[in-house]
Amino acid sequence: MSIVEKLRSHRDLTDEELLTLICTDEYDSGLRRAADEVRRSVYGTDVYLRGLIEFTNYCKNDCFYCGIRRSSRSSQRYRMSKEEILGCCRQGAELGYRTFVLQGGEDPYYTDDLMCDIISEIRSLYPENAVTLSIGEKSYDTYRRFFECGANRYLLRHETADETHYGKLHPAEMSAERRKQCLFELKEIGYQTGAGFMVGSPFQTPANIVSDLRFMQSVSPDMIGIGPFIPAKGTPFESFPAGSVELTLRLISIIRLMFPYALIPSTTALGTLSPQGRELGLKAGANVVMPNLSPVEYRDKYSIYDNKICTGEESAQCKTCLEQRVKSAGYTIVDSVGNVKRN
Ligand code: 5AD
Ligand code: FES
Repeated sequence: MSIVEKLRSHRDLTDEELLTLICTDEYDSGLRRAADEVRRSVYGTDVYLRGLIEFTNYCKNDCFYCGIRRSSRSSQRYRMSKEEILGCCRQGAELGYRTFVLQGGEDPYYTDDLMCDIISEIRSLYPENAVTLSIGEKSYDTYRRFFECGANRYLLRHETADETHYGKLHPAEMSAERRKQCLFELKEIGYQTGAGFMVGSPFQTPANIVSDLRFMQSVSPDMIGIGPFIPAKGTPFESFPAGSVELTLRLISIIRLMFPYALIPSTTALGTLSPQGRELGLKAGANVVMPNLSPVEYRDKYSIYDNKICTGEESAQCKTCLEQRVKSAGYTIVDSVGNVKRN
């Protein structure tokens, strides 16, 4: 049996076999085909849309890779009011979105009370829609409060599961252990939970990627977001090379085979590094796209990395653009809320 066949049937491989797949240079069409078949067996050709609202670019953290880290002087800071956020949701609902993703830096301006107010208002205005949060590390109690206010899903990429590597990407006050613990807490509370990591982040080794896959096996996330690292000006990593599109695609396929049910986005970072990146991501096994719903005036300010795409487009344009891309890749945008399909 080939490695790919083994991965498909066991949903697992030895570390050595995973390393072989990760380190193979050419993009194995057998791997992509197997991933696409598995994706079709669970999700058909369906692709889910998530309307992304980047509501604050203030952040109290200082991750070395991120363009909106607190020491970044190049980013002009903004915060959206509750009314502005609700305005994005209204527009999103009109465009047919069934999930709103509230993403932001870790910004203490948004107290737990304010977040709860926003979350419950969105849920009561759009009861059929899901609210996904992507606002970083919080206490267990805060996570529980947000869940009780109506948040359904939470995205928190673990970034790297290896503690030493984590320490090279983050200042000493942040810890891999706490980050991982957050994911277990989110699951326990009942969120559909998303983990993930950057591909080609500085100092990442193939063995680190194996640790990421192992860690995700222990979490069993509902969503898995990966995208290539892209350098951001003004950060300590501004001169590091970007991650490989090809390796990202290969990892999407590997992840699809290991986690057949997972909701996997074809990320903006992939589209930023390659004009057809998001189409390729879908063909490699991704089944989610996240069009931007933020007001255009703020978009270029949410610059977690350089040359981010979609900053000039209106929300409606972003949706049309992605619909065309999904269609041209051979898949279908569906308007269901898009919950995870575990068997
Ligand atoms: N390049 C690519 N992805 C990045 N992220 C943050 N900075 C960068 C960068 N420079 C990713 C992180 C974070 C997500 C919102 O964006 O993985 O979790
Ligand atoms: Fe935003 Fe294409 S997805 S412009």
